[in-house]
Amino acid sequence: MRMTGTDYDLLEQQVASLFESERDLIANAANFSAFVFHELPLVNWAGFYFPDRGDLLLGPFGGKPACVRLAAGQGVCGAAFTSGTTVVVDDVNAFAGHIACDAASRSEIVLPLLVRGGVAGVFDIDSPVASRFTPRDRAGLERLVTRFVALTWFPDAYPWRPPAEPELARGVDVAGKPGVP
Ligand code: SME
Repeated sequence: MRMTGTDYDLLEQQVASLFESERDLIANAANFSAFVFHELPLVNWAGFYFPDRGDLLLGPFGGKPACVRLAAGQGVCGAAFTSGTTVVVDDVNAFAGHIACDAASRSEIVLPLLVRGGVAGVFDIDSPVASRFTPRDRAGLERLVTRFVALTWFPDAYPWRPPAEPELARGVDVAGKPGVP
């Protein structure tokens, strides 16, 4: 299917306005997901996954509830995160290792978040239509994600992550101080 209607110049201007005065990662990721989910036609999910203890962990998104934790290197998201390049899948049923969070999804694009020479996470968009994401969409979406990254502050670590299970069991809180027993 050929998609020619999306005005990526306009969307890029809108992204620039949306994040003009805020740099917070959670707030901006939430609004970016909602923006893409509502502005792009034929999209049934749009959202973030961020690295967490070797896996990819669900971040802000628009759409139905999704898979929470993707094992290291797995799925389309894992491929984009590991390679640091955009991955477009025209037919998810033909992609070995595709992780199906919603049986309605037919095609998918995953864009890496390139921050300070590393990959800070991925932005994933699903469509109920096969071959939804053309080279023009890929180029346009890469511009939007680049603009989002430039206007958002990514910490070197993710201090709000909960401690690992053994730490929880010992009653250690997120800041590493003794927690409530
Ligand atoms: N399909 C993705 C998993 C995430 S959901 O689509 C929201 C993948 O294969 O990595």
